[in-house]
Amino acid sequence: MVRIRALRPNIEFVPRTITAYDDGRTYLLALNVSKPAELAFHIRDYRAADFERLWQIDQLCFAPGIAYTQMELSGFIMKRNAVALVAALSSDEAGGSSAGAVERIAGYVLAHPIRRKYARIITLDILPEARRLGLATSLMNACEERLRSLGCTEVYLETAVNNEPGIRLYRKLGYEILRRIPEYYSSHSLDAYQMGKYL
Ligand SMILES: CC(C)(COP(=O)(O)OP(=O)(O)OC[C@H]1O[C@@H](n2cnc3c(N)ncnc32)[C@H](O)[C@@H]1OP(=O)(O)O)[C@@H](O)C(=O)NCCC(=O)NCCS
Repeated sequence: MVRIRALRPNIEFVPRTITAYDDGRTYLLALNVSKPAELAFHIRDYRAADFERLWQIDQLCFAPGIAYTQMELSGFIMKRNAVALVAALSSDEAGGSSAGAVERIAGYVLAHPIRRKYARIITLDILPEARRLGLATSLMNACEERLRSLGCTEVYLETAVNNEPGIRLYRKLGYEILRRIPEYYSSHSLDAYQMGKYL
């Protein structure tokens, strides 16, 4: 999958360190030296006010024709039982006061349970600036935990055959390639791998 136009997020940072807290889902990132501060990530459920941001992230992550339209994304999120989790980054510029915290969504995962047994990962998107920090791994782990609690025992997804970061990530999370789907991304004449694992 190819990245498209550069909508820069408002928060610029150079990740230096990551620290896991007790709940295993929150991380500290050191900012670049010109603006020393700390940012914390946490995983939370999607809220309606997040929609525009999620759509923008999807536009950044996928090429036109592959990125979802607002109507498509909205349809996926609004589906009954949809699991939508965001990785939100909060910077506390007020020096420890929670009242001064600013939250920015850096990525999200969207999944659908099907007949309470199977689940499908609809999309997993991480802002380019926030990659290789374990965010996708944290989101996928949280999503799988939620799917398990809903009774799902198998999870499937599709990813472009040339999406090496995605394929490596999913393999690391225990997914196996099940089959190749010709022209899955028809607008790009691009095949996909269907991958899956038992939960
Ligand atoms: C694929 C994507 C979700 C990975 O997100 P991420 O937060 O950077 O992933 P993580 O930091 O959790 O990476 C976990 C592992 O995945 C693999 N991985 C992730 N990005 C990689 C890359 N660019 N090259 C090679 N391996 C990569 C590595 O094994 C990595 O472990 P390591 O950092 O210890 O080597 C992200 O690059 C993205 O949003 N891409 C665009 C959208 C997309 O392709 N979505 C998934 C397919 S539908």
